[in-house]
Amino acid sequence: MSVTAAIPERRTGTGEVVVEAQNLKRHYEVGGGFFGAKGTVKALDGVSFSLEAGKTLAVVGESGCGKSTLARLVTMIERPTDGVLKIDGLPVTESTPELRRKIQIVFQNPYGSLNPRQKIGTILEEPLLINTDDDAATRRDKAISMMERVGLRAEHYERYPHMFSGGQRQRIAIARALMLNPRILVLDEPVSALDVSIQAQVLNILMDLQEEFGLAYLFISHDLSVVRHLADDIMVMYLGKPVETGPAEEVFNGPRHPYTAALLSATPVADPFREKKRINLVGELPSPLDPPKGCAFNPRCWRADDRCRNEQPPLIDQGLQCHACFHPLPVGDGAHG
Ligand SMILES: Nc1ncnc2c1ncn2[C@@H]1O[C@H](COP(=O)(O)OP(=O)(O)OP(=O)(O)O)[C@@H](O)[C@H]1O
Ligand SMILES: [Mg+2]
Repeated sequence: MSVTAAIPERRTGTGEVVVEAQNLKRHYEVGGGFFGAKGTVKALDGVSFSLEAGKTLAVVGESGCGKSTLARLVTMIERPTDGVLKIDGLPVTESTPELRRKIQIVFQNPYGSLNPRQKIGTILEEPLLINTDDDAATRRDKAISMMERVGLRAEHYERYPHMFSGGQRQRIAIARALMLNPRILVLDEPVSALDVSIQAQVLNILMDLQEEFGLAYLFISHDLSVVRHLADDIMVMYLGKPVETGPAEEVFNGPRHPYTAALLSATPVADPFREKKRINLVGELPSPLDPPKGCAFNPRCWRADDRCRNEQPPLIDQGLQCHACFHPLPVGDGAHG
């Protein structure tokens, strides 16, 4: 199965919410030194979502919009400055070993996250050694079985990370993340460092694993084309805030926020005969230390008026699809329409 050739059917989850975020915020106090001006970076500024078992929520947006900050909060690497994070229905007040087992993270760069001095077998067995009473034979069996699930061979058990390609290394990182049977995987740009042909393979493995284990994915990417085939829901972020959320199909086929439409128009379409209006995103992302007044997107938006320059649009609930815009695109008039 190839990602580009076959679009898998929307998976049906169990309806069981495994992660819930309510108005999560992470602000950083910066500067105040000799050179830097003092200020607050609102890396994440009010994000809410719920994620069900077996489903994928894709979080997309340009560099610096707060995606990795969200990943660090959800995996309890950092605490939010405000808001509530619930895992399996219970508010997280501290990061306990049981909670950490439930949520694992896979980073963009598998070179940095695998110890070059450890053999693959050791890397995969380490979580079992620390967290379970499994004996050596059981650990080995579990490691080899997980290697097979991610498309590695048993003889790879004795090899070191440098003996693998980038794609294989990312398979190792995924296998390691799954060793303790987590319920949730946070995937922070998991294929962005890989060649396009390898990306599809890794994405397919992730989809198979999700089905097999009923995993919930928080899938982070700056590239909408990567999440197109595996997202159930999408959250588009801009400068720490969600600007559009909704079921993937609706958002892809009919983006309401101009920023979503601009991101989509920069994404290659599968069908080259389908006409596409290309929207050029002008200007750079504003500094998060000094965000524009009103709607943060207004300096780059072709639909902005005085109201947008002065008032911050709230995220408006429009059925399943929500957007934070005073002048949303008409229904069915997206960049791909
Ligand atoms: N510890 C920190 N102290 C101060 N500012 C921070 C800190 N961590 C992140 N930031 C800032 O918060 C904002 C969001 O960063 P984050 O890494 O979450 O973005 P991102 O969407 O993951 O970007 P990328 O696509 O480049 O990975 C950025 O402006 C970043 O500089
Ligand atoms: Mg990041």
